[in-house]
Amino acid sequence: MAPQGRLLIRGGRVVNDDFSQVADVLVEDGVVRALGRDLLPLGEATPGLRILDAAGKLVLPGGIDTHTHMQFPFMGSQSVDDFYQGTKAALAGGTTMIIDFAIPQKGSSLIEAFETWRGWADPKVCCDYSLHVAVTWWSDKVKEEMKTLAQDKGVNSFKMFMAYKGVYMVQDEQMYAAFSQCKEIGAIAQVHAENGDLIAEGAKKMLALGITGPEGHELCRPEAVEAEATLRAITIASAVNCPLYVVHVMSKSAAKVVADAKREGKVVYGEPIAAGLGTDGTHYWSKEWRHAAHHVMGPPLRPDPSTPGFLMNLLANGDLSTTGSDNCTFNTCQKALGKDDFTKIPNGVNGVEDRMSVIWEKGVHSGKMDENRFVAVTSTNAAKIFNLYPKKGRIAVGSDADIVIWDPEATRRISAETHHQAVNFNIFEGMVCHGVPLVTISRGRVVYEAGVFSVAAGDGKYIPRKPFAESVYKRIKQRDQTCTPTPVQRAPYKGEVFTLKSRETEEDDRAGTRMHSSSGPMKSPELQSGKNTDKGLDDLERKMGNGD
Ligand code: URP
Ligand code: ZN
Ligand code: ZN
Repeated sequence: MAPQGRLLIRGGRVVNDDFSQVADVLVEDGVVRALGRDLLPLGEATPGLRILDAAGKLVLPGGIDTHTHMQFPFMGSQSVDDFYQGTKAALAGGTTMIIDFAIPQKGSSLIEAFETWRGWADPKVCCDYSLHVAVTWWSDKVKEEMKTLAQDKGVNSFKMFMAYKGVYMVQDEQMYAAFSQCKEIGAIAQVHAENGDLIAEGAKKMLALGITGPEGHELCRPEAVEAEATLRAITIASAVNCPLYVVHVMSKSAAKVVADAKREGKVVYGEPIAAGLGTDGTHYWSKEWRHAAHHVMGPPLRPDPSTPGFLMNLLANGDLSTTGSDNCTFNTCQKALGKDDFTKIPNGVNGVEDRMSVIWEKGVHSGKMDENRFVAVTSTNAAKIFNLYPKKGRIAVGSDADIVIWDPEATRRISAETHHQAVNFNIFEGMVCHGVPLVTISRGRVVYEAGVFSVAAGDGKYIPRKPFAESVYKRIKQRDQTCTPTPVQRAPYKGEVFTLKSRETEEDDRAGTRMHSSSGPMKSPELQSGKNTDKGLDDLERKMGNGD
């Protein structure tokens, strides 16, 4: 990225997750150099210093979208927002960093997938980015590659799919192994929590009933399918004391499972997405096939219209932690691959551009959260969980100058006609949002201002993330030290021990070839199973007069 002069953002209200203050922000060489009142007396000219007037506006840390899929080859197609257009759209919406997913096919190398995604992203990205990597199968090689990715490639988060049976889905024992390795290398385990077996059965059932349209997508994977998998993932993670991050929490039931676990003290984080916070699954029942199909994603939006408000409440009160978009966009002709069979509709919706405005409108403008919580859930918490903080997620001296000048009073109407994304549909069509990004600054450069971009493909850069993020791993490490079970010290048992029969003996028994089985007295079932206590054993032996 070409160097740009110094910047002074003057007189705005600087909002971090913990407090807000009216201050100037001086930016040099891509980082925040100074923060305070009247850094430059009014009227004083400094050559090479650009002054941005932020009076009456908010100055926020740039958004971090924790979950995107740019140019993702998926379900026979490829998502249309690539790393260029997708990240440009992100900047227009006030997001200055995305975390995308490198997803290997089963049996393929995780490192190769990572390098492939880097090869796609590096020349195209307009904002900074990082990569989660998916674990879609298990072997010693996968285990070793996870370690290499964590130690040498800057990956500290791995996603396991509990759905997409036969494609990406992993079984519980593989999750157990992957979670154990995450913990060993200091990464956070992520799950797409849906019961893939139930979805497969449910889909067959819907098709057999003649339900081939997008409503079948939701009907075959109701809330319980998401909630069950969420609880299972939390149970497995808790068994290995591994931190868990549940991506795209879409239902009230799954959100409650996450909230309960968090309140029980488990190290678990829930990520609702813009789609789930801003709209609902009633659209699957639209009479217009195109409209319904463009809402198809997994887990699905929920038809209960109180879901978005409920998820927002939990995000506001701390039960849920971060927000992504799961931006994975397909044009109508791609969605039409499933025109006669909902299981073939490529899954995914938009959100990378509109996430910040939708959350401001539904979260802050509605009065559910304040500006500080907004910063926490759109930026700071992600930076902490994925070990980017305080370089990202904060406006402080030394932080990257990823900054948005935000007008909380202005409104904009979302539309596919005017958005900057490649996709020809917008699930938030017609929504009027308070909260508009006026200026977006990426590592010290004004990249978007009043609707105009000053950014080129490749200006963004890959941000490696170190393992053992403090905010995640402090509790994990402490629990390993203090909560590891120890054996009860007791005197060794000295009594009689039941003799197990060999398989040969059992076969003889079944064939009736052993003398004692046909002539001698039979042992009671308790004695045969060896279940009795010492005293019980003695009593039984006595009662049966059996001394053998
Ligand atoms: O429907 C979705 N969510 N598409 C992207 C892949 C995933 O599961 O995150
Ligand atoms: Zn997913
Ligand atoms: Zn996703």
